[in-house]
Amino acid sequence: MATVTRVPLISSLSTVTTISCHIKFTHLPDSSSHSFHAFSSSSIAFVAKRNRDCCFRSSRVVKVSSMADLAKSTVLVTGAAGRTGQIVYKKLKERSDHYVARGLVRTEESKEKIGGADDVFVGDIREADSIVPAIQGLNALIILTSAVPKMKPGFDPSKGGRPEFYFEDGAYPEQVDWIGQKNQIDAAKAAGVKQIVLVGSMGGTNLNHPLNSLGNGNILVWKRKAEQYLADSGVPYTIIRAGGLQDKEGGIRELVVGKDDELLETETRTIARADVAEVCIQALQFEEAKFKALDLASKPEGTGTPTKDFKALFAQITTRF
Ligand SMILES: NC(=O)c1ccc[n+]([C@@H]2O[C@H](COP(=O)([O-])OP(=O)(O)OC[C@H]3O[C@@H](n4cnc5c(N)ncnc54)[C@H](OP(=O)(O)O)[C@@H]3O)[C@@H](O)[C@H]2O)c1
Repeated sequence: MATVTRVPLISSLSTVTTISCHIKFTHLPDSSSHSFHAFSSSSIAFVAKRNRDCCFRSSRVVKVSSMADLAKSTVLVTGAAGRTGQIVYKKLKERSDHYVARGLVRTEESKEKIGGADDVFVGDIREADSIVPAIQGLNALIILTSAVPKMKPGFDPSKGGRPEFYFEDGAYPEQVDWIGQKNQIDAAKAAGVKQIVLVGSMGGTNLNHPLNSLGNGNILVWKRKAEQYLADSGVPYTIIRAGGLQDKEGGIRELVVGKDDELLETETRTIARADVAEVCIQALQFEEAKFKALDLASKPEGTGTPTKDFKALFAQITTRF
């Protein structure tokens, strides 16, 4: 079976992903007398190590980026078919001058949903090994995975009352928001990823928050545990605790940052998913965003000034957790 490792690239600018396998070359050019040989096309290179018997048994198929890509930042967004994740993935693709985008989704169906490109990896964050290929060679990781509660069948809005929710077996917040996020953080740290942006939720300071009783999942408790794990990891991080998410246009509201759920006591406690997605990407650009945790919401449209200066926004944050 193929294994994946990282090797330093010719310059120290970046790294390349290598997939070890056995290939026996029978027709190699004269220059094959050197110890190592590299034959590169636009994106694939073969690096062969010569054995004493003159056969090339131990070879590696090396997937490299083009030279132009080396100056860019390779960024993986997980939960890339989710409602916020797919906005991040799209924005990264649109900014191909600066980023090499990757997405991680759970199923082939999700991959198709966001276009099915080769840069979309399929893996389950609860299974650590399954996400390693997506994380190799990354500069930054944006975590947008989350356990998703399902509504119990039989709810009839016309009869009033509230719907009941449940989590599927094995997909409780403990497994997804704790173990799954931890697996991503561990894999990223092991791969030398330079920054991790984690999207969480406001409300985590209150153990009795109604979201915790949803489906008996304690979702905010497990999210918070993962946030703490990230903050303790030593990897530069940005923790974004979003207010209530809305599927609205982004870029047209003034964003507001806070700490310790203080914004929940105000009228400013919702935010467009598109704005959260933008903040995730902007966090990669400014030192002011590193080693910070922020609550994030926006003023209502038409009040305040739409946020354009993200450096100044991040500079307002003083909290590491
Ligand atoms: N809803 C709110 O009002 C609110 C408020 C504050 C913060 N937040 C948080 O903000 C974040 C983004 O929310 P959202 O509504 O945009 O997210 P979402 O649409 O619910 O997306 C979550 C993604 O996680 C993926 N996922 C779940 N389990 C996985 C697994 N085992 N392996 C790989 N992927 C897995 C899902 O994949 P599948 O598509 O395959 O299921 C889905 O794409 C979440 O952390 C959420 O909790 C939400």
